[in-house]
Amino acid sequence: GVDLGKLLAQTGLVTLDPGFVNTAACTSDITYIDGDAGILRYRGYPIEQLAEKSNFIEVSYLLIYGELPTQQQYEEFAERIRRHTLLHEDLKQFFDGFPRDAHPMPVLSSAVSALSTFYQDSLNPFDQNQVELSTVRLLAKLPTIAAYAYKKSVGQPFLYPDNSLGLVENFLRMTFGFPAEPYEVDPALTRALDLLFILHADHEQNCSTSTVRMVGSSEANLFASISAGINALFGPLHGGANSAVLEMLEGIHSGGDDVDAFVNRVKNKEPGVRLMGFGHRVYKNYDPRAAIIKKTADEVLSKLNANDPLLEIALKLEEKALADDYFIERKLYPNVDFYTGLIYKAMGFPTKFFTVLFALGRLPGWIAHWREMLEDPARKISRPRQVYTGSPERAYTPIGQR
Ligand code: ACO
Repeated sequence: GVDLGKLLAQTGLVTLDPGFVNTAACTSDITYIDGDAGILRYRGYPIEQLAEKSNFIEVSYLLIYGELPTQQQYEEFAERIRRHTLLHEDLKQFFDGFPRDAHPMPVLSSAVSALSTFYQDSLNPFDQNQVELSTVRLLAKLPTIAAYAYKKSVGQPFLYPDNSLGLVENFLRMTFGFPAEPYEVDPALTRALDLLFILHADHEQNCSTSTVRMVGSSEANLFASISAGINALFGPLHGGANSAVLEMLEGIHSGGDDVDAFVNRVKNKEPGVRLMGFGHRVYKNYDPRAAIIKKTADEVLSKLNANDPLLEIALKLEEKALADDYFIERKLYPNVDFYTGLIYKAMGFPTKFFTVLFALGRLPGWIAHWREMLEDPARKISRPRQVYTGSPERAYTPIGQR
């Protein structure tokens, strides 16, 4: 019953913690990370078990509702999502307003923000039915929005969702299919993308999730909060890293495959040169998701017959970095993004689209956190303090005297 925050505030004490490195902003029952041991669990279940045995819809249910679904709960949930995949026809027009070379992330966040205007019957954060409806709408519609953003960028016609298909199959068909042609969804591809979505589904208080919670703490609706999260994910130090890794590998390849020279540039801290896909605020050990993905990358690339020279470079970079004092001292290991770009590329996605795939995977985590935040009896609007370092009081000078 003691409100620690209030007690501290009464003392007038303010802690300065740039980047919130040591500051917890909430309690949470959703995801457990032990960064030193390289452990990740959703609702108590190890990520390795979920990756092997579960699927993305089931993991979404687990994250949002706290328990694995029964067979009946699973089917009802999947069926509800299936029924909501269509976008309002007017929302479809929305995509025409963007330039063709628009990056798909701001297209995604804008369209999600626009859901608040199209689905006004599911905006009340305190009406349980409306929260359920907005939850299902987002899970169902984000893949359709993402596929339309892709189609727009390549100048191809949109495909309506085919609700006889599962969520991931439907997304692949809407992205790579054509209206007049049948599209055979490759089960290996579907399974690999489903697995990547599971691995991205939540990661506790990362930048985008904290953003969703912060925006939601003002009692903004779910669509508005998720749209903000998508914008946070856009940055290259967060979700944009998967595209940045591929750009880095391509740069090394076109420069003559000189991995040693690149690592030296990183170690010399040349401005703007980092080993992308390495390092993590929380993991000071091998990111458990990277370990699963590394296995998958090899499998998927050989199944898709993709003999990518960039994989060779990635493997060499990893080997070199893991044996180098610079990276050892700083506890820099491959993170989730180091290998995902190579898989996405082999699947046929353009580099610009990788972060959209991250957003599709992270969505259930964002929703789970937004809901947990609103149900928290200790909930307060997010409002950090600051330590003022500006000018002391001074008198205004008229413009002609400056
Ligand atoms: N390459 C080279 N040096 C690095 C890297 C890297 N990828 N990451 C960190 N370092 C160095 C820093 O220069 C710093 O060195 P110093 O102590 O000599 O100054 C030290 O390691 C600590 O780094 P910080 O930037 O202070 O660590 P922070 O926790 O703030 O950053 C981050 C974490 C942003 C992920 C960082 O490691 C990074 O920029 N990595 C590359 C981008 C990336 O892969 N992001 C994806 C993150 S995972 C995700 O969003 C799914």
